[in-house]
Amino acid sequence: MGYSANGSAAEAKRLKFLIYGRTGWIGGLLGKLCEAQGIDYVYGSGRLENRVSLESDISNFNPTHVFNAAGVTGRPNVDWCETHKVETIRANVVGTLTLADVCREKGLILINFATGCIFEYDSGHPIGSGIGFKEEDIPNFIGSFYSKTKAAVEDLLKNYDNVCTLRVRMPISSDLANPRNFITKITRYEKVVNIPNSMTILDELLPISIEMAKRNLTGIWNFTNPGVVSHNEILEMYKEYIDRNFTWKNFSLDEQAKVIVAPRSNNELDTTKINKEFPELLPIKESLLKYVFKPNQKTSVA
Ligand SMILES: NC(=O)c1ccc[n+]([C@@H]2O[C@H](COP(=O)([O-])OP(=O)(O)OC[C@H]3O[C@@H](n4cnc5c(N)ncnc54)[C@H](OP(=O)(O)O)[C@@H]3O)[C@@H](O)[C@H]2O)c1
Repeated sequence: MGYSANGSAAEAKRLKFLIYGRTGWIGGLLGKLCEAQGIDYVYGSGRLENRVSLESDISNFNPTHVFNAAGVTGRPNVDWCETHKVETIRANVVGTLTLADVCREKGLILINFATGCIFEYDSGHPIGSGIGFKEEDIPNFIGSFYSKTKAAVEDLLKNYDNVCTLRVRMPISSDLANPRNFITKITRYEKVVNIPNSMTILDELLPISIEMAKRNLTGIWNFTNPGVVSHNEILEMYKEYIDRNFTWKNFSLDEQAKVIVAPRSNNELDTTKINKEFPELLPIKESLLKYVFKPNQKTSVA
């Protein structure tokens, strides 16, 4: 993990992280990272929409920072949110805002794992142009109820100067057995679309989120690796490094629309801001090779 060596042991000792999302993918990985870095942390036991339970977590643990990796994303996917709108609002809107508000009252920074799936390519940001959406751009994708709640919350959270909003997209980790991993998902689909997108390599970026807390950074951040990668480019890498016999079928966005309920977002995010703060952040294809495909390589090296 790229940034684990950052910061002295004494600095790690002073930090106390309260993390929401114990049973979740990102929340689970964050806890492991804290352990590896010797950072004192505890998982929140409260539900986000229950203000009293959040206040009690904070007074029991007295954290230096709070991380929110809790929220509903839908199972098996975001289509679930279309038929569970109130549950989605409760966690993603009422819950997230309550946590931000409690943290502000207590003078605490909240590192909030949000989403970049609130944008879609448009005439000002065409596919393949290299022109990505910036942090200050207004979301232009509310095609799914999930994205709609996330865009609404992002807009309201702008008024909280204690919140660090991290726009995650199509998260990928080195654990290729995890069904949430974007790579695992697309290798298991019967057919896949082929569109370049900004994506988040968690093995590289989650340690950066910890570093961001140490630096007390706030505001909105496009939290993806620089550049874009397409479905087919990832599957070509999968074939080269994991399974030479792997094959797949593509289909068009129109054909995809017939097998999903809510439209999905495809976009490129501008990473100038995070790249300036973390110049060592790798472009997406280099990060994929370093953190995912090379460590998992199963094919013989030519
Ligand atoms: N995975 C993605 O594709 C993706 C992409 C972009 C952004 N994100 C964002 O990143 C965050 C974490 O994602 P993830 O993939 O790690 O999610 P996940 O695996 O689905 O985990 C979600 C976590 O949130 C908790 N949770 C849900 N509702 C809650 C509530 N009302 N109060 C307290 N805890 C609650 C769940 O706990 P229980 O089981 O106890 O409910 C679980 O621990 C989410 O906000 C998501 O929107 C994810």
